[in-house]
Amino acid sequence: MSVEKTKKLSNGSIIPRLGLGVWKAQDGEEAMNSVKWALEAGYRLIDTAEVYKNEVSVGEGIRMSGVPREEIFITTKLWNTDQGYESTLKAFDESLNKLGLDYVDLYLIHWPVKGKYKDSWRAMEEIYQSGRAKAIGVSNFHQHHLEDLLKDAQVVPVLDQIELHPRLTQEPLRAFLAENNIAVEAWSPLGQGNILEEPILVEIGKKYNKTPAQVIIRWHLQNDIIVIPKSVHQERIKQNIDVFDFELTDEDMEQINQLNKNERFGSNPEKFDF
Ligand code: A2P
Repeated sequence: MSVEKTKKLSNGSIIPRLGLGVWKAQDGEEAMNSVKWALEAGYRLIDTAEVYKNEVSVGEGIRMSGVPREEIFITTKLWNTDQGYESTLKAFDESLNKLGLDYVDLYLIHWPVKGKYKDSWRAMEEIYQSGRAKAIGVSNFHQHHLEDLLKDAQVVPVLDQIELHPRLTQEPLRAFLAENNIAVEAWSPLGQGNILEEPILVEIGKKYNKTPAQVIIRWHLQNDIIVIPKSVHQERIKQNIDVFDFELTDEDMEQINQLNKNERFGSNPEKFDF
């Protein structure tokens, strides 16, 4: 199964299917270099968030790379304490300022904060209409959160960014998102590095001369999942995008699916203490 490098979202935006995540990349040299190395290696999607506290360095990394802004897809996210109508408008302006950009390609509600996300979404819709976010979406929303949001939404979220990896395959939620034409994006796609020694991933990798990380990234891509592995090491950043020259068989895919244990490494949106 060949994989396209980009995907068209429901609003017509074109998103790269593989990008760099920068959660836990330290503000300063670390985040700046990761972004620069990624862009040099051919990445065109960078995923940050207000709460990562590295938007300034992400912006610097983009400018240092020399890659034209219009070729890059930048995502940032609204933090929980900024949710609400006015505070979302304000937080968005602050994120743009920190990034040193005049628009982002995608703005996401980071978590479904009870009683607040609908007001936040109204503000996001206005930001979208103004053209300063080319697309808007959500993160960590479960089916019931989306059903509730969609009751009042004027604009349907283009994607939902959720924790997703071979230990947490999220099949029911992915089916709901597919039915609603909401793209799936995986955070912690490598299980935060915790599953890279799984024997089956090592074994499958050997057949193709690929590492377990590359096998997992390819599994996401072949499942039509947008994937944003994080690394702050240049070699790994390069390695993680070197996944377009091999294909997993249906049997490989099934063996990887079998690793599912509904196990989270991050917070559960149902239990997250806002
Ligand atoms: P580092 O940033 O030190 O390279 P996830 O994207 O699922 O959150 O996983 C990120 C974790 O996996 C980080 O700890 C990162 O470490 C590590 N990692 C990323 N790419 C690779 C790779 N190709 N090989 C080994 N570890 C990796």
